[in-house]
Amino acid sequence: MNDAEIANLRSLMEYEAGRTEPPIGFPRLPTVPGGRYTSDQFYQLEREHLWRRAWLLAGHLDEVPAPGSFRVWDLAGPPVLITHAQDGEIRAFHNVCRHRGAPVALDKSGNKSRLTCAYHGWSYNLDGELVAIRNAEDFRDFDYAAHGLAGIRCERFGKLIFINFDEGAPALLDWLGPIAAEWAEFQFDRCRLAARHVFDLECNWKIALEANIEVYHIRTIHPKSVAPMMDDRRNVNTLYPNGHGRMVAPGRADSAVKAAVDLPRGGNIIETVGEIARTCTQSYNIFPNWVSPLNHRALAPLLMWPNGAGKCRLETWTLAPDWGDKPRPDMWTENDGERLNPVLLEDVEMGERIQESLSSPGFKGASLSYQEARIYHWHQMADRLIGIEHIPEALRVEQVIGEEWIYPNDPRRGAGLRTVQVAGA
Ligand code: FES
Ligand SMILES: [Fe+2]
Repeated sequence: MNDAEIANLRSLMEYEAGRTEPPIGFPRLPTVPGGRYTSDQFYQLEREHLWRRAWLLAGHLDEVPAPGSFRVWDLAGPPVLITHAQDGEIRAFHNVCRHRGAPVALDKSGNKSRLTCAYHGWSYNLDGELVAIRNAEDFRDFDYAAHGLAGIRCERFGKLIFINFDEGAPALLDWLGPIAAEWAEFQFDRCRLAARHVFDLECNWKIALEANIEVYHIRTIHPKSVAPMMDDRRNVNTLYPNGHGRMVAPGRADSAVKAAVDLPRGGNIIETVGEIARTCTQSYNIFPNWVSPLNHRALAPLLMWPNGAGKCRLETWTLAPDWGDKPRPDMWTENDGERLNPVLLEDVEMGERIQESLSSPGFKGASLSYQEARIYHWHQMADRLIGIEHIPEALRVEQVIGEEWIYPNDPRRGAGLRTVQVAGA
C-alpha cells in the first residue's frame, strides 16, 4: 500500500467517525430475503451455480510439496484430486476413474508416481494421463488419450492453490482484480502453512461468513475481546469487483493491538507488511467464502463451506513466515485445533442460535445498514453468478449498489470527501 493510499484510508477513517448519516448517494439497502439462509431451493441454486463458477481456495503448496505428492479435497462437493506432477505443475482432476467411476485415490494424501484405481487397476500418472490398463487385449480400438482423468481449472496465487469447476471462468488474477497487487506485501508466495482445521457448525454457511464481514456486532458479541481493541467507528469498508471486500479498522490508541504493533521489527514477522496492516485490522473477504485478517505476524484465512441449508463447515488456516524451532503458530484454535479461539466461539455460538430463529415465520428478511454494505455487495454478486433469471423473485436481492461504489470508484475518496460532506450539510 503506497503513501497516497494510506493517507486516503486515514482520511476515510476520520470521515467515517464524523459522519452523521450514510454517505450522500449511498442507496438504501433492500431486505435480504430470509429464504437465502434457510431454503433448500436457494441451497441448491448455490450448489449448481455459485460453487461451480467461483474460484475456491482448495489447498496450499506445502500440502503437495514435491513431485508425486497428491491430496484429495472435497469441501465444495465433488471430490477433487490435487497433484504435484513430475514437471512441477500443480494440477487438479475429478477423483473419478474413467473406467467405471471408482475413486482413483482412496487415501486422502500421499506420494506416488502413479495412481492405480483399486477396482480394476487402471493407472494414471500425476498429469492425469492414463498410462496402463489391465487386459488391454480385451478392449477393441482402445484410445488411451481419451481416457485421462477429467481436469479441473487450477491456478495458484503464491503458494495458495485455487480450483474452479467452470472451464469458462476468468483467470484467477482477473478474479482477484486489484487485490492481487495489494497483497504483494503479504508474501503469499513465501509464507508456510502452519495450521488448517475444520469444524462442523449448525448454521448456514453465510451466517458464519457474514459475522466476519461487518463490525456492527463487535460491541455486542465481543464486548470484552474485540471491542476494547478495535475502533469500529473508524472502520473503512471498500467494495471490490466480483463481490470481494475489505475492512480497515484502526486499533484503539491504548489497546493491546498497539502494544503488539509497537514491538521492534525483526524476528518472525513478514517484514514487507506495511503500516496499515501493522496498526489496524485489515481483513479481506474474497468471494465466495474466504475472510482473511492479514498482518505482519500471520495470514489467517477463515473459510465457510456449505453442508446443507442449515449446516456448514468452518475451516481455519494460519499461514506464517518460517517459524524455525518455535511451535507452529495457530491464530484461530487452541489445544491443537480441537477448540476454536474465544473470539470465533463467540461468533459461532451466536450463529447457531441465529439459524434456529431465522426459520421463524416472524423473520421477514435481513435489514442491512451502510456499515454492513459488504454483506449486501456479496449478495448482489451471488445473484449475478447464480444467474438472476434462475432465482425466484422472492429469493432475489435487488442490484442497488452501483459501479460508482466499487473500487477504484468511491465517492468518499480523496478530494471528493470534502465535496460529499459539503453537499450533505
Ligand atoms: S473403475 Fe477404475 S479400473 Fe475399473
Ligand atoms: Fe465476530
